[in-house]
Amino acid sequence: MIRRSLIVGCGAYLPERIVTNEELVTRVDTSDEWIRERTGITQRHIAADDQKTSDLAVMAGRDALSRAGISAEQLDLLIVATATPDNTFPSTATKVQAQLGMTGGAAFDIQAVCSGFIFALATADNFIRSGTVKTALVIGAETFSRILDWNDRNTCVLFGDGAGAVVLKAADMPNSTAELGVLSTHLHSDGRYHDLLYVDGGPSSGQTVGHLRMEGKEVFRHAVVNLAKVVDEALTANNLTPKDIQWLVPHQANRRILEGTARKLNFPLDQVVVTVDRHANTSAASVPLALAEAVHDGRIKQGDLVLLEAMGGGFTWGSALVRM
Ligand code: COA
Repeated sequence: MIRRSLIVGCGAYLPERIVTNEELVTRVDTSDEWIRERTGITQRHIAADDQKTSDLAVMAGRDALSRAGISAEQLDLLIVATATPDNTFPSTATKVQAQLGMTGGAAFDIQAVCSGFIFALATADNFIRSGTVKTALVIGAETFSRILDWNDRNTCVLFGDGAGAVVLKAADMPNSTAELGVLSTHLHSDGRYHDLLYVDGGPSSGQTVGHLRMEGKEVFRHAVVNLAKVVDEALTANNLTPKDIQWLVPHQANRRILEGTARKLNFPLDQVVVTVDRHANTSAASVPLALAEAVHDGRIKQGDLVLLEAMGGGFTWGSALVRM
């Protein structure tokens, strides 16, 4: 027998307020045409003033739990991937734990910026494979609107707020039928690229929250290379070719990065889940939001082989291959 993590429910939450490109034109020197052409983004959701990252996470978490038919008391692990926690401490995950009514187990945050959900999923999967956890809730939640420099047109047009979640459940299966659930995860980081994408503040760096700073062109160049590499790595590790994959669920940073990665892999664009046009880049929330959308609208079906991938500040990057 072998133990695997099955995804038994997906959840999503997007704040009500939608900010269109046209609205941004009133704030910075930009245009709807520039944003659409260079990024594919047409709008983004922005959290209300009284909505914190934990509030978004709770909504997505509740959605995933109810679709999985699992109560919060049954959870023995809760991980929140976020780069925009409510507070310096305690973790956003412990706040979410309390709001969901999860009384046992452990809750903690993971910080890998836009790759955060993949890092959190890999962590939960390893806890399940090792036998220490049976049921886990993994959430990616962000309020990037709070760390944007709204006077910097290079960055403020690119991001949005939101949260996505999955429930993982341990399943023991004979080796012969073990091709179900999370099949592999691969994580990478290279801290030498810190200066290309970072926030210029934090508790130990000037005691301000700070603003996101990015060398967009350089990040773009590394993203296409690293994402193609990490997809290749997942396929090779599982003896697969792109033809075996039904759906690619990439981090949603820029439509041109999605297209570049798909082209490099010779992967058909109509099998790539795209939400960047409506959500913009929601960092750690982007992959679970895209996954939830495609599962809930029926595109991703039970038995489909789905490849999740992301890259973010650090740099960090990684993949997860899942048989749904
Ligand atoms: N509106 C209008 N013009 C803008 C603009 C905006 N919102 N933002 C930048 N520009 C201008 C620049 O100032 C520059 O003008 P200049 O040539 O007079 O200096 C010009 O547009 C081109 O800028 P450039 O940075 O070369 O554009 P680009 O084609 O590289 O696109 C990004 C910029 C940010 C969209 C793109 O580099 C990108 O998506 N990078 C990756 C970002 C990312 O994925 N980050 C998160 C990773 S997790």
